[in-house]
Amino acid sequence: MNISNKTVLITGGGSGIGFATAKLLSEKGNKVIITGRNSARLQKAAAQLKNVTAIPCDINAEADVKNLVKEVQEKFSDLSVLVNNAGAAYAYQLSSEADAFAKASEEITTNYLSLIRLTEQLLPVLSKQKEAAIVNVSSIVVFAPTAVISTYSASKAAVHSYTQSLRHTLAKNTQIKVFELMPPLVNTEFSKGIGGENGIPALEVAEGLVAGFEKDEYEIQVGATAQIYQLFLSSPKDAFNALNQ
Ligand SMILES: NC(=O)c1ccc[n+]([C@@H]2O[C@H](COP(=O)([O-])OP(=O)(O)OC[C@H]3O[C@@H](n4cnc5c(N)ncnc54)[C@H](OP(=O)(O)O)[C@@H]3O)[C@@H](O)[C@H]2O)c1
Repeated sequence: MNISNKTVLITGGGSGIGFATAKLLSEKGNKVIITGRNSARLQKAAAQLKNVTAIPCDINAEADVKNLVKEVQEKFSDLSVLVNNAGAAYAYQLSSEADAFAKASEEITTNYLSLIRLTEQLLPVLSKQKEAAIVNVSSIVVFAPTAVISTYSASKAAVHSYTQSLRHTLAKNTQIKVFELMPPLVNTEFSKGIGGENGIPALEVAEGLVAGFEKDEYEIQVGATAQIYQLFLSSPKDAFNALNQ
């Protein structure tokens, strides 16, 4: 799928992978909308780029999502690409005192449930376009969890499963292609507590997304994700061990 002259919405587009993607896609002649909770950071990010609009939105807040969808319908009715990138994670050891319920609730809401709601509400706009796409950002951990981000890994495994069903369903009766972007460890704010400084740059992930898009490669395995996938196919146990050394 060609990714130029399109209107693209990127959740969590004010930082990290979302921002790198916004930058690359704006340079490729797309109109880009970025969302996030931190309005100041979002405006600052948009000001650095050409053809980028910032719309503050907490994807977990129903009213914010309603406003975002309304603004898209009114001002960006040519929206043809949705990148569900916003994410939350806690790095912690599972134990009796971890309060895993609260942490997992936030992760599953941000990474999975809110992604489903936003996708559903934008389907009518996306369905109107000749060619459209949804990109769900999951992770290398969909093939095997990393124990220190256990509940986050489970939320991304849910995104992987949902994305497969969504792709299958939308392929039957719409022009909407469904992609999954699976980054390995990436050097962003997000991964600071889990050795993110050893990760790949966010730009490499954005470039991987564009390359995958152009080849209609629906599961885009960036960097080490491709190796973990191969390992998973031959031995799930070895894939688990590789991610938990
Ligand atoms: N970094 C890695 O190693 C890595 C690896 C694999 C996958 N990923 C995935 O890549 C995606 C982007 O992460 P990143 O590494 O680029 O980290 P990041 O820079 O921290 O980006 C996360 C973004 O999500 C936004 N966000 C979080 N909660 C939100 C909410 N409730 N509503 C709206 N926006 C929200 C944040 O903006 P606000 O704070 O302004 O809301 C932020 O811009 C995530 O889905 C993450 O799971 C990351």
